[in-house]
Amino acid sequence: MFSKNTYISRRKQLKQQLSGGVVLFLANNEASMNYPSNTYRYRQDSSFTYFYGLQIAGLVGVIDIDEDKEILFGDDYGIDDIIWMGNQPTIKELATSIGVDNTQVFSELEAYIRKVQQQNRKIHFLPPYRDDSRIFLSRLLQLPIESLKDAASVELIKAVVALRSIKTDEEIEEMEKICDVGVDMHLAVMHGCQVGKLERELAGLAEGISLSGGSGVSFPVILSQNGETLHNHCHEQILQSGRMLLVDMGAESVTGYSSDYTRTFPVNGKFTQKQREIYEIVLEANLETIEKSRPGIPYWNVHMNAATVIAKGLTELGLMKGDYVAAAKEGAHALFMPHGLGHMLGMDVHDMEGFGEDYVGYDDTYKRSEIFGHGSLRCGRELRPGFIVTDEPGIYFIPQLIDIWQSEHKFEQYINYDKVREYIGFGGIRIEDDILITESGCKVLGKPLPKQVDELEAIIGK
Ligand code: GLY
Repeated sequence: MFSKNTYISRRKQLKQQLSGGVVLFLANNEASMNYPSNTYRYRQDSSFTYFYGLQIAGLVGVIDIDEDKEILFGDDYGIDDIIWMGNQPTIKELATSIGVDNTQVFSELEAYIRKVQQQNRKIHFLPPYRDDSRIFLSRLLQLPIESLKDAASVELIKAVVALRSIKTDEEIEEMEKICDVGVDMHLAVMHGCQVGKLERELAGLAEGISLSGGSGVSFPVILSQNGETLHNHCHEQILQSGRMLLVDMGAESVTGYSSDYTRTFPVNGKFTQKQREIYEIVLEANLETIEKSRPGIPYWNVHMNAATVIAKGLTELGLMKGDYVAAAKEGAHALFMPHGLGHMLGMDVHDMEGFGEDYVGYDDTYKRSEIFGHGSLRCGRELRPGFIVTDEPGIYFIPQLIDIWQSEHKFEQYINYDKVREYIGFGGIRIEDDILITESGCKVLGKPLPKQVDELEAIIGK
């Protein structure tokens, strides 16, 4: 947790941005795995953590903007809980630790809300993403579950996005630390990679490091020789010489901040010429992104640059043809990179995605593209100091997508399908770093993580 003043200041800034009404922040509940009392690792809601810092279930934070009053609703633990969990702070103690003056027992929340409703005052809440929260909110607010997404407060969403998008110095420090843990996960996999091992052995090794250095992984580990499947969570294959391994993973800090890196390398530690040629194109797109990312530049432009680098490289290799600038603009490169260049990173690995991606990554000036591939860019808006975004270009050979595009004669003026078919079975390559936008450019977060071909060849399996 940060100091009490951090949470007081965050709530104060939020209050200043809202015109009136009452704000509700729900803590996440425990989630059962296979029977009620056997639960998954507890994960607090990121906005609750941001404004209250408490990683505890069963709480609701209320901010009455009109009356300038804050209340923490929750129940003290009884002896039956304390026997199993040990002594626990009271709600009053918790509230005091984060500068909230008032507490009420949970059963009083409903009457409180009815009163606000009778006063015809606005109740702001963020879109709920867990079913238990949706059911709870639906009953509390007397709204149909299906209407909750639309009833969520756009004013609140925009205010929270404005705050959480700009990382403060103490948040950046947390991000740096958890990025280091993410780097350690990757280094362990690189050193431990050996022909004949199971992918699962490496995934487990990395996940252990995320638990030693933080509170676990920031998303389920992606580690596969079938890197052409963008989010491949299957780790059941035996590592084979000649194949490449795509590893996309990061850790989450106990304070709730995430890291997210991807590296791709040959299992046997030696790039073939074909692998190296494709790899160098992706690396160039990754490095140019670092060069070009700075305040004032829309990430859309940086994404377009990466798409163009990829189209240019593939044209030079003969997989694409014609005007590579036009090809990238029209979306022909998306046969190979069907995703965007990156996303906001922070307390969520896709930061605040649950509010609706467009609130986070787009604004009145920059709207999401409707073109396949470009439309998957999660963050297209102008970069500002304090933003943290991922830089993750890739090239993939997805057999099914190639079949469909070829059968539709799609972009035949730009794509040399005969040559592309020679790469079926190649897999996919992605290289991802986490970058902080500074006053003058950007900074790659975390300790150095090898990505040059010679650096990787020097470390894999050693
Ligand atoms: N690196 C995983 C993701 O961006 O979804």
